[in-house]
Amino acid sequence: MENTNLKIAVIIHSKTGNTKSVAERIKEKLVARGHQVQLEEIVAGNDEEMDLAKIILTKNPESKGYDGYVFGAPVRAFSLSPIMKAYLSKTQDLEGKPVYCFLTQHFRFRFLGGDNALKQFELALNDKSARILGTNIVNWKSKKRAQLIEETVDLVKF
Ligand SMILES: Cc1cc2nc3c(=O)[nH]c(=O)nc-3n(C[C@H](O)[C@H](O)[C@H](O)COP(=O)(O)O)c2cc1C
Repeated sequence: MENTNLKIAVIIHSKTGNTKSVAERIKEKLVARGHQVQLEEIVAGNDEEMDLAKIILTKNPESKGYDGYVFGAPVRAFSLSPIMKAYLSKTQDLEGKPVYCFLTQHFRFRFLGGDNALKQFELALNDKSARILGTNIVNWKSKKRAQLIEETVDLVKF
């Protein structure tokens, strides 16, 4: 998608800043390409809660009114962060809009939670009628971390 001046939301959950640091790189790139970019964080009052029904979102970013989206979240307990799950379950339908998503995870290998979390991310986004254009995982303890971050930034083609 090569249109300039799109309204893009980068919507993330990030507790310790790894996901946010990647999101900031993506934002910089999109701003340099002439887009209007809003970086929004999802915050829960009870961030460690695993039970979706009990999660209380204290920052619940508006998802309406954008041309495209980037979603980012950490892997938690071999799954998509429950905070991102809770957010996506309640947010507005994405109406076929283009979406990229990425995960960060501690372990070096995607099979240690990343692959499963990514499946859950894609399912949750598909439930919201997202048109997923690309996905990636950044393995934080991998020797290739810098390369994986570059790949994730490159992936986003708005
Ligand atoms: C409760 C909890 C569970 C986690 N489970 C996993 C896991 O299953 N696999 C993994 O690779 N990393 C796991 N992690 C590590 C995070 O995915 C990783 O540190 C991530 O980059 C944190 O992102 P953030 O700094 O944006 O919050 C877990 C972290 C927490 C707090």
